[in-house]
Amino acid sequence: MNTPAWSGRSHGTHFDAALNALAQIHHVSGDPPQVTLYELARIVTEALNIERFSVWCATEDRRAIRLYFLYRRSTGAVSDGSILRKEDFPSYFRAPEGRTITIDDVTTDPVAADLLEPYLAPLGIGALLDAPIYSEGAPSGMVCHEHVGGPRTWSDEERLFAGVVADNISRLLEEFLRQRAEQNLRVYQRELQVLDRLEAMGRMAAGIAHDFRNLLNIVLANAELLGEDDLTPGQRVYVNDIRSAVAHGTNLAQELMHFGRDVAGRPSVQSLRPFLEQVSRLAAPSLGDCSIEIRQEREVSRVLIDRPELERVLLNLLINARDAMGGRGTIRIEVTQASGDRKSTGIGRAVCIAVVDSGIGMDADTRLRVFEPFFTSKPEGTGLGLAVARQIITRAGGTIEVESTPGVGTAMHVFLPVID
Ligand SMILES: Nc1ncnc2c1ncn2[C@@H]1O[C@H](COP(=O)(O)OP(=O)(O)OP(=O)(O)O)[C@@H](O)[C@H]1O
Ligand SMILES: [Mg+2]
Repeated sequence: MNTPAWSGRSHGTHFDAALNALAQIHHVSGDPPQVTLYELARIVTEALNIERFSVWCATEDRRAIRLYFLYRRSTGAVSDGSILRKEDFPSYFRAPEGRTITIDDVTTDPVAADLLEPYLAPLGIGALLDAPIYSEGAPSGMVCHEHVGGPRTWSDEERLFAGVVADNISRLLEEFLRQRAEQNLRVYQRELQVLDRLEAMGRMAAGIAHDFRNLLNIVLANAELLGEDDLTPGQRVYVNDIRSAVAHGTNLAQELMHFGRDVAGRPSVQSLRPFLEQVSRLAAPSLGDCSIEIRQEREVSRVLIDRPELERVLLNLLINARDAMGGRGTIRIEVTQASGDRKSTGIGRAVCIAVVDSGIGMDADTRLRVFEPFFTSKPEGTGLGLAVARQIITRAGGTIEVESTPGVGTAMHVFLPVID
């Protein structure tokens, strides 16, 4: 650990004891990194008298930070895996460089402006003391000391302490990587690379789809110009065929354009119960004679995701369930707490949203291919519904899995990291 410049002139405050304790922490080979961070988080939250302590690491492409570890002092609970993209929160990510980002009052500080409504306010965070972490000299993430409650004036001593905590985290992260304790970060980065390749393909497809849709509009406009009255009954059938083919093509073009879209919208902290009730209402007109039953044992934790994007995922899953059940029956949405190993990252907690139908199910070959773009078994399908769903969920740090038995039904499981 770097010896803090101010240690020589400190006056035996409780920070001295905390600093000594921090310096003693080393990663024990074989332990999960979280065990070591847990110990550190307890010391830091105690010393600063804060409720939340979190470590965020930059993704390899540096376009986002991923929650590596979050500790809540009052409950001792740990979370991880949520993702914040830099382009969604420019005011925070463009904060002036320095040893710490000090925000005494999140409601008035311009640096917190983008984060306030979607993130800080729902979590009750009133003041922030953040410090960047470095890997091989380059910024590689952020350590956040979050005060729950109203504003708070951070003292110079607290700011210096936060900087030393960040130094310790940088040192520990290097130890984890050196000891190969941290495979999750790498696995996640590989997934993002696959996603990037898919996106490049999607962008190309979206470009073509855009022009294609314009051409279809011309075809449609001309078909409309053939006045109904001048046509023989036989010719009318041809014109109707043109119209329905154009409608199908336009739908396909629209799906493709969404698939190629690179903007993830803006994630915010979401409670699932009211969200799912709203999605059920929204979906009802498209579900024919299917009804939805929501099952949630008790209030589960919140998640960090762009609301319209999660709506899109749920709608795709519900419509697939409807199709599988031939347009009638009950679709169940089940929300449960899941253990963290079911999501792509780490050991923090996850929420599982399962959409369960009693439809035709899938054979092994279909199960393997459902997330493949353009894979469809439906005459009017685009095969993009689940590809888009997986794209959205992966971006939010989660995973989506299929469980299905032919003739019995299908359960689609969406796992999302818990944020609160
Ligand atoms: N709940 C389900 N039950 C049975 N098969 C399913 C279910 N969900 C998806 N599938 C299978 O996976 C395929 C791909 O689904 P996906 O949602 O990606 O595309 P699609 O529904 O065919 O078309 P669209 O782009 O209109 O959604 C489906 O064609 C179907 O064969
Ligand atoms: Mg579909």
